[in-house]
Amino acid sequence: MPYTIEQVKALVREYPDFPSKGILFRDIFPIFREPEAVECLVEHFVDRIKALGQRVDVVVGLDARGFLFGPLIAIKLGVAFAPVRKRGKLPGEVVSVTYLKEYGPDVFEMQADALEAGHNVVIIDDLLATGGSCKAAEELVCQLKGHVVLNAFVISLVGLEGDKQLKAPVYALIEC
Ligand code: PRP
Ligand code: ADE
Repeated sequence: MPYTIEQVKALVREYPDFPSKGILFRDIFPIFREPEAVECLVEHFVDRIKALGQRVDVVVGLDARGFLFGPLIAIKLGVAFAPVRKRGKLPGEVVSVTYLKEYGPDVFEMQADALEAGHNVVIIDDLLATGGSCKAAEELVCQLKGHVVLNAFVISLVGLEGDKQLKAPVYALIEC
């Protein structure tokens, strides 16, 4: 049965006190148990991206949950997918940036040949919290002389004001 985007949103589950006390964890994996829900989600993002009216050359997905649907969006747009990975996972020449996580600094990397100068990029991830991860991804795209046209998320935790960390516009399917 085809899904509506409201039905897709309703599949996201909340887990109090995971992975630590006081965190309300938003889990997108139930969406991936329903192929037609995934299809609806991907179509929704593709429509949003096309509505920008801007050329898009590369979809960049963030480690790890941005890898679940970033490539599906890229396929539908007919463009490349490039991963942002945590330190030490990508072979060849890489660009790196250090960013702050809850328990201290971490490093994100991209392959140096993942983009060409002047490429337009859409960044995809499951969730925007403090914005530290996506800000780091924006910096990597900038180091490769790309241009971020949109940061797109399934969920934005608006109270944390992660969007204020970001240079490019933000779209989130669910704001909570
Ligand atoms: C989570 C989430 C985002 C990031 C958001 O990933 O998937 O990538 O945190 O937080 P921020 O906006 O405060 O940076 P996490 O680093 O936990 O990695 P995972 O996807 O590998 O679980
Ligand atoms: N990453 C950071 N905060 C999160 C949350 N509340 N739920 C799921 N992933 C997260």
